[in-house]
Amino acid sequence: MAHPRGRPVVSPNLLLDQHVRERVAAGQDVLHLGFGESRLPPPRVLVDRLAAGAVHQDYGPVAGRPVVRAEAAGYFARRGLPTAPDQVLLGPGAKALLLAVLAAVPGDVVLPTPCWVTYAPQTRLLGRRAVRVRAPEGCGGVPDPDGLARAVPAARAAGADPRLLVLTLPDNPTGALAPPGLVRDVCAVAARFGLLVVSDEIYRDLLHDPAAAVLSPAEALPERTVVLTGLSKSLSLGGWRVGVVRFPDGSGGRTLRERVTALASESWSALAGPQQEVARVAFAEPPEVRDHVRASARLHGAVTAAVASLFRAAGARCPEPGGGFYLYPDLEALRPVLASRGVVDSPSLQRMLLDDFGVAVLGGHNFGDDPGALRFRAATSLLHGATPKERRAVLRAADPVAAPPVARALTRLRAVLGELASPSCGAAWVRGAR
Ligand SMILES: Cc1ncc(COP(=O)(O)O)c(C=O)c1O
Repeated sequence: MAHPRGRPVVSPNLLLDQHVRERVAAGQDVLHLGFGESRLPPPRVLVDRLAAGAVHQDYGPVAGRPVVRAEAAGYFARRGLPTAPDQVLLGPGAKALLLAVLAAVPGDVVLPTPCWVTYAPQTRLLGRRAVRVRAPEGCGGVPDPDGLARAVPAARAAGADPRLLVLTLPDNPTGALAPPGLVRDVCAVAARFGLLVVSDEIYRDLLHDPAAAVLSPAEALPERTVVLTGLSKSLSLGGWRVGVVRFPDGSGGRTLRERVTALASESWSALAGPQQEVARVAFAEPPEVRDHVRASARLHGAVTAAVASLFRAAGARCPEPGGGFYLYPDLEALRPVLASRGVVDSPSLQRMLLDDFGVAVLGGHNFGDDPGALRFRAATSLLHGATPKERRAVLRAADPVAAPPVARALTRLRAVLGELASPSCGAAWVRGAR
């Protein structure tokens, strides 16, 4: 979606995935690093609950059944955020909930650069302005605190009215996990300017180091932080559309919750009954669910680390991700050789990788980054195999990087990156000659 007065545009990641599906249907062998979707087989207990949840055919309360909200509240409490069930509202994915939260709060929206593809289009869709602040070097998901402190008054002087700040921990597209000190500093600046923080924590359970220190902005700035999460990433349930929002305690949080509840009541009414039954069990985190999430995080950590080292070996800058399944390589060091292939910016880099090498990635321009830079997002979540059986084996493998589907993808990527740095033409890749 573009500006309300502009031509509507389908979200670039969904558009790219559709395009890749068409290429694959036409017989092309695409290395799909372009879509942040995990297709790992979900825990059996949740599949069973989805079927059993069919009995919930009533609309039910807008915010979700009290028993489900109580489990979601428990989920947050176990992460250092004491939560009452009425601070929680369930909805059809974090994306829809984000739109409802943005719609419920007037004012313009401060976004880190780069940031998830959807934040800026949702902002524009609501007729608001996006105020951009770069993330600190080597980080992502949060703006540089000094940059934020300069950007808010500058935006106000220019006639904008920034009142919200969206943070992502861990981040999409960079995979970075902002360190607690940085989160604290950013929250202090947000408090100074009276910003409401929306903390998108949908990748929080996919930390690569289970002992990594995470500070939710809702701990640093409890009265002014809304937290979003869902089941799409850690439980690979994107298509089931389950999200949850946690409002701050206190009168400001209550007012916001009432506004979002009103919006929900006039849009999706309530999360689908069977999905609520899934959410009830998922947020209760029985051993089978915990085990699945832990195994997924371990897998994503191993695969992203292996892919990052391939990019680095090819000369790219590629910080080690802290969570989730994304990398954000910078191919600046390869600019001269890329220029000889006609690649001068991230749109041409994205095009060339797909057309010449059959590698799908999303250029940094889709995340609000400078289009002139040679950065892109590589998602590793679709490298785990073509069938549920393969993906189950990869999830359980002692060394997932050596599991056949992952090893094949890594071998291909290594060869593509090797060829990229050399002047010969890569068109043979697309024809499937290699
Ligand atoms: C940062 C971030 N937030 C939210 C979402 C969407 O989540 P959901 O499937 O719950 O709408 C995504 C999915 O890509 C994401 O990367």
